[in-house]
Amino acid sequence: MIVLVFAMVCGLFICSVCLKQFSLQTSQLVPSPVVSHSLHVLTRIHYPMPQTFNRAECGHNPVRFFAILSMQRSGSGWFETLLNSHDNVSSNGEIFSVLERRKNVSSIVETLDRVYNLDWFTSASKNECSAAIGFKWMLNQGLLANHVEIVDYFNRRGVSAIFLFRRNPLRRMVSLLANSYDRYAKLLNGTHKSHVHSPEEADALSRYKPVINSTSLIHDLQETESLAAKALEYFNTTRHMVVFYEDLITNRTRLKEVQEFLSIPVKDLSSRQVKIHRGDLSDHIKNWEDINKTLNGTEYEKFLRADY
Ligand SMILES: *[C@@H]1O[C@H](CO)[C@@H](O)[C@H](O)[C@H]1NC(C)=O
Ligand SMILES: *[C@@H]1O[C@H](CO)[C@@H](O)[C@H](O)[C@H]1NC(C)=O
Ligand SMILES: *[C@@H]1O[C@H](CO)[C@@H](O)[C@H](O)[C@H]1NC(C)=O
Ligand SMILES: *[C@@H]1O[C@H](CO)[C@@H](O)[C@H](O)[C@H]1NC(C)=O
Ligand SMILES: *[C@@H]1O[C@H](CO)[C@@H](O)[C@H](O)[C@H]1NC(C)=O
Ligand SMILES: *[C@@H]1O[C@H](CO)[C@@H](O)[C@H](O)[C@H]1NC(C)=O
Ligand SMILES: *[C@@H]1O[C@H](CO)[C@@H](O)[C@H](O)[C@H]1NC(C)=O
Ligand SMILES: *[C@@H]1O[C@H](CO)[C@@H](O)[C@H](O)[C@H]1NC(C)=O
Repeated sequence: MIVLVFAMVCGLFICSVCLKQFSLQTSQLVPSPVVSHSLHVLTRIHYPMPQTFNRAECGHNPVRFFAILSMQRSGSGWFETLLNSHDNVSSNGEIFSVLERRKNVSSIVETLDRVYNLDWFTSASKNECSAAIGFKWMLNQGLLANHVEIVDYFNRRGVSAIFLFRRNPLRRMVSLLANSYDRYAKLLNGTHKSHVHSPEEADALSRYKPVINSTSLIHDLQETESLAAKALEYFNTTRHMVVFYEDLITNRTRLKEVQEFLSIPVKDLSSRQVKIHRGDLSDHIKNWEDINKTLNGTEYEKFLRADY
């Protein structure tokens, strides 16, 4: 009897593992590289009445709501500084990095209400004349976990989503590892920096070469892709667009399209941030040969060579 029960439990376990792996493989639809303007072509406009200040004559300027949905080390910090260089955009940073604000749905909604009512103050908050207000939100900061309520909120209040992903998750992995190493190594004169403003600082940070776990590499790349695919699926009823970091760098038209998506006057945007890991990827990975061999002949081979 005991042997029989044991065999059954084992069988069930193996089945569940198989199923899990199978679903991982099939949900690997990579975000489509084309812009996906959704069904709702028109943006909703708002006339917020903040409790903390008076919008004065700008009270008649309509405001659009947006959120940048992304993953850590995907260029969202840089993207946000670009947007914030626009007179009429206030993007308030990664406000849900604070656990307290995403503990449950009601604290998430309360935080969102305050941001979109212009009552949230950060260094990015502009004058009364903001025409687009938002923040950036990482997929793992309660966004996917509470997606039903958040999608409902976005559709109810007319929040437009800008998905920002990286085409090359291998480069993102290098950035992730280097950044978490610097958290305690503090390479820049004893301070940890996630973003830098000079080539010297960038060189100092990129001198550290992370070792990538080649055993779990393929699985990790698949996880990243399926996370992005899942987010796009969950949010497919919201008004949204998908932007890739690599495209923003090589093609300024994309930035224009983002501004059009937000219905703000199109301007030349600029950022003082400097890219940390430039040039060949082989210069930035310690166990390069190993990684090269691991990805050789797989669908991820192209990530070894691609720029940015
Ligand atoms: C943008 O900001 C400027 C100056 O703050 C203001 O004059 C202008 O009306 C704003 N534009 C929009 C579309 O709100
Ligand atoms: C949500 O969290 C806040 C503070 O973190 C707490 O005050 C509130 O009671 C919680 N609400 C629910 C419904 O659990
Ligand atoms: C670090 O210190 C060196 C000299 O000790 C200085 O030249 C450099 O500007 C400093 N870098 C930063 C990021 O403060
Ligand atoms: C690499 O990943 C494998 C599988 O996830 C794990 O068993 C192993 O401990 C990892 N190696 C290192 C050095 O982290
Ligand atoms: C959104 O995704 C779900 C699940 O894949 C699908 O059933 C639904 O048709 C999609 N909706 C739109 C508007 O694409
Ligand atoms: C830049 O992007 C626009 C729209 O996304 C596209 O039409 C154009 O072909 C792109 N240009 C290049 C050089 O890739
Ligand atoms: C990566 O491996 C391929 C062979 O699989 C080799 O031709 C290529 O030179 C290697 N790339 C680098 C940068 O080492
Ligand atoms: C790379 O893969 C090809 C076949 O896909 C194989 O012929 C070649 O030997 C591999 N190179 C290395 C360095 O493993």
